[in-house]
Amino acid sequence: MARLMRDSAFRMRELTDNLLDLARGRRGTGLVVERDASQPLEPVLRQVIDEQTAVYPDRSIDTHFDLAEPVSCDRARVAQLFSNVLGNALSYGAANEPVRVRAVSGSGQFELSIANAGEQIAPTVVERLFQPFYRSSARQNREGLGLGLYIAQEIATAHGGAITVTSTAAETCFTFRMPNA
Ligand SMILES: Nc1ncnc2c1ncn2[C@@H]1O[C@H](COP(=O)(O)OP(=O)(O)O)[C@@H](O)[C@H]1O
Ligand SMILES: [Mg+2]
Repeated sequence: MARLMRDSAFRMRELTDNLLDLARGRRGTGLVVERDASQPLEPVLRQVIDEQTAVYPDRSIDTHFDLAEPVSCDRARVAQLFSNVLGNALSYGAANEPVRVRAVSGSGQFELSIANAGEQIAPTVVERLFQPFYRSSARQNREGLGLGLYIAQEIATAHGGAITVTSTAAETCFTFRMPNA
C-alpha cells in the first residue's frame, strides 16, 4: 500500500510539474533555466534512475556515464527532462529488454540519450510527439497527459540545445544535445 501511494504521488508530481510549466509557457513567462557547473550532474541523473526504478522495479536500466567535463546546466530541469523521457522508455518500450542510458560530456557538448526496444514509432508520428497533449492512440490507457516530451523539448531549447528522435524496428532513441561552454 505504501508503495502504491508513493508511486502515485510521484506520478502526480510529474503531471502537475508538467502542467504548471505548460501554463507558465502559455502566459509568456517562458521556461527559465539557471545554468550552474559547480555541482556534478551524475548523482542527479542517478537519483532519477532510482525514482523510476522504484516505479518499475522489474525493469533493468543500463547506464554509461562519462561526465568528467562539468556540465553547465540547470540540474533540476535536466532531471525533469530525463525523468520524462526515461519514464516514456519504461512505459512504452518493450518490457523484456533493458533501457539504455548514456550521458557524455566533452568537446564543448553534453549529450544524454535514452534508448529502448519496442514498437517502431511511425515516421509520420515522430514529428508530432513533441506537441502539447499529443499521445499516440495505441496507449491511451496510460495516465499521461501528453505533455512530457513537450516540456522536455522546452527545457532542451532553454539550454540552447534540442532533443532528436530516431526510431527503427530495433530501437527508439531520444537524444538531448546541448552546447556545454
Ligand atoms: N520511447 C517511446 N516509444 C514509443 N512511443 C513513445 C516513446 N516516448 C514517447 N512516445 C509516444 O509519445 C507520446 C507523447 O509522450 P509524452 O509527451 O511523454 O506524453 P505521455 O507520456 O503523457 O503520453 C506518448 O503518448 C507515446 O505515444
Ligand atoms: Mg510521458
